[in-house]
Amino acid sequence: MNNRNENGVTDKGHEFRTKEDICAHLGDDYDRYLGAIVPPIFQNSLFTRKTKEHGYIYTRIGNPTTEIAERKIAALEEGEAARCFSSGMGAISAAIMSVLSKDSHVICAASAYGPTRQLLDTYLARFGLETTYVHGTSIDEFERAVRPNTRLIFLESPSSHIFAMQDLAEVARLAKAKGISTIIDNTWATPLFQNPLKLGIDLVVHSASKYLGGHSDIIGGVAVGTAAAMERLTHEERALYGAIMDPHQAWLLLRGLRTLPVRLKQHEESGMKVAAFLEGHPKVERVLYPGLPSHPQYELGRRQMSGNSGLLSFIPKASDADIMSMIPRLRFFELGPSWGGFESLIATPGIGVSEESLAAAGIPRGLLRISVGLESAETLMEDLDWALSGLA
Ligand SMILES: Cc1ncc(COP(=O)(O)O)c(C=O)c1O
Repeated sequence: MNNRNENGVTDKGHEFRTKEDICAHLGDDYDRYLGAIVPPIFQNSLFTRKTKEHGYIYTRIGNPTTEIAERKIAALEEGEAARCFSSGMGAISAAIMSVLSKDSHVICAASAYGPTRQLLDTYLARFGLETTYVHGTSIDEFERAVRPNTRLIFLESPSSHIFAMQDLAEVARLAKAKGISTIIDNTWATPLFQNPLKLGIDLVVHSASKYLGGHSDIIGGVAVGTAAAMERLTHEERALYGAIMDPHQAWLLLRGLRTLPVRLKQHEESGMKVAAFLEGHPKVERVLYPGLPSHPQYELGRRQMSGNSGLLSFIPKASDADIMSMIPRLRFFELGPSWGGFESLIATPGIGVSEESLAAAGIPRGLLRISVGLESAETLMEDLDWALSGLA
């Protein structure tokens, strides 16, 4: 883990030089909160203007609890400012809308999260938006897709089913030369393992429902960028669409953030063990995981990330029906759509989906995705071995 915060962050006279320190303590303010070791939840909708100037008006615009989470995440991403949203999709849609204008064209990574693609090519298409999808493995693809009205390049690296990556520095260079904005969904790597703003990307978005929260008890999102861009988001997309994170959600997010470095260390260690185990298993065709040298973009991953989280995919050597009958044999992997929490999960993105949808997102038939949780890696490998060994 590259845990140094190169520029350092100062808060209340303390200098924070590591991500662990930021997660644990940035935003603590014992004088302001009567010595409370954990800042309180400001569970209020409005702030009276009769008292001395404090800068708060109404919780749809800003709230002190939510702001602590924003300051922590901005510091972790080494960005100037961050804004929290009521979901990852709230952050993604606000960020996308903040850079579009009438009749815009967008270039998007083909393996980006499904609802992000749906927002672009189904929902926003109603308002005249056009989207070109690129696999994104070479810069030429992006160059060929650029049009005079291209306003945005949307990246997701690594993506969350096949872990496709884009060269962030190269894309940022191209976009800057052409005056195009760039946004990346950085949910998989988290700000601990990848800081795209340092590579020239304009805006980073996260689903905080995954590793940042980490306990499968909140839905949340965050956008990070320049102070000016975040100020605009506050008063335009976030205030107008009304998708701010509520204070209680922010308080739970803060609790999750305090342990993010230790949780991720464990997710990474177990993710690597489980990926290597699956790769050597006789009933497994292929494993997709950026931490394995067999990943086709392994070198790019090593260049632009300092670690790997615990979400990976594999394809068993079996029919769809046999794969589905294997899932109930798992005792520790629950069948569910999310990831990044303490619990291990399995999802079936490559089964029961049309060939057309699979091809559009580059997902191989039969693909299973697992989120490696905080149980012991040995338990999880035994569980997978037991289920796989029952395959015909
Ligand atoms: C990669 C990725 N981005 C964004 C989202 C959306 O986040 P949320 O569910 O918090 O809206 C998800 C959710 O699964 C995701 O996997």
